[in-house]
Amino acid sequence: MHPVGAAAVLAGVLAVAGCGASSTPAATFTEIYPLIFPIETKAQCNFCHGLPSNDKSNGKLSMGIDQPTAYAALMATSSSSMCGSGSAVRDLVVPGDADNSLLFQKLTTPPCGGRMPLGGSPLTAAELDQIRSWIEAGAKDD
Ligand code: HEC
Repeated sequence: MHPVGAAAVLAGVLAVAGCGASSTPAATFTEIYPLIFPIETKAQCNFCHGLPSNDKSNGKLSMGIDQPTAYAALMATSSSSMCGSGSAVRDLVVPGDADNSLLFQKLTTPPCGGRMPLGGSPLTAAELDQIRSWIEAGAKDD
């Protein structure tokens, strides 16, 4: 195949697969954290997930109130709530695979429980794209 043609086909495949525009760099965790986690934000993840692990208030997902604690919790945790019951093993973040990351699923179409932020308005498409790009790029502590 002609090299230019191959590049065009590849770009088309990436666009269809939802990998985002190849020219847009993946979001870093430093960009995502202040966007959704602090209680000052619209999503207010920390309002519930900053509390100690508890079945009722946060599905046993405690992410603290700072970026390093949140990163460590997200990367080390498989769901220990109803989402991980029975034979289901669900990792919150599967580096390189947003669709199989419980974090991403809970923000879009949750396989269990409610959509996050619980009781709040959904993240925007742009915010979801950033979270997806961070996970797809390896979910680095960057
Ligand atoms: C009003 C409180 C509240 C807010 C705000 C909130 N959550 Fe939750 N979250 C919960 C509760 C309660 C559960 C457990 C019940 C459920 O899954 O529906 C939960 C469960 C989860 C789980 C699944 C944990 C597991 O191990 O099964 C994830 C992931 C999650 N939340 C991420 C987030 C993110 C990211 C945000 C911010 C965008 C957020 N939540 C905002 C209360 C909240």
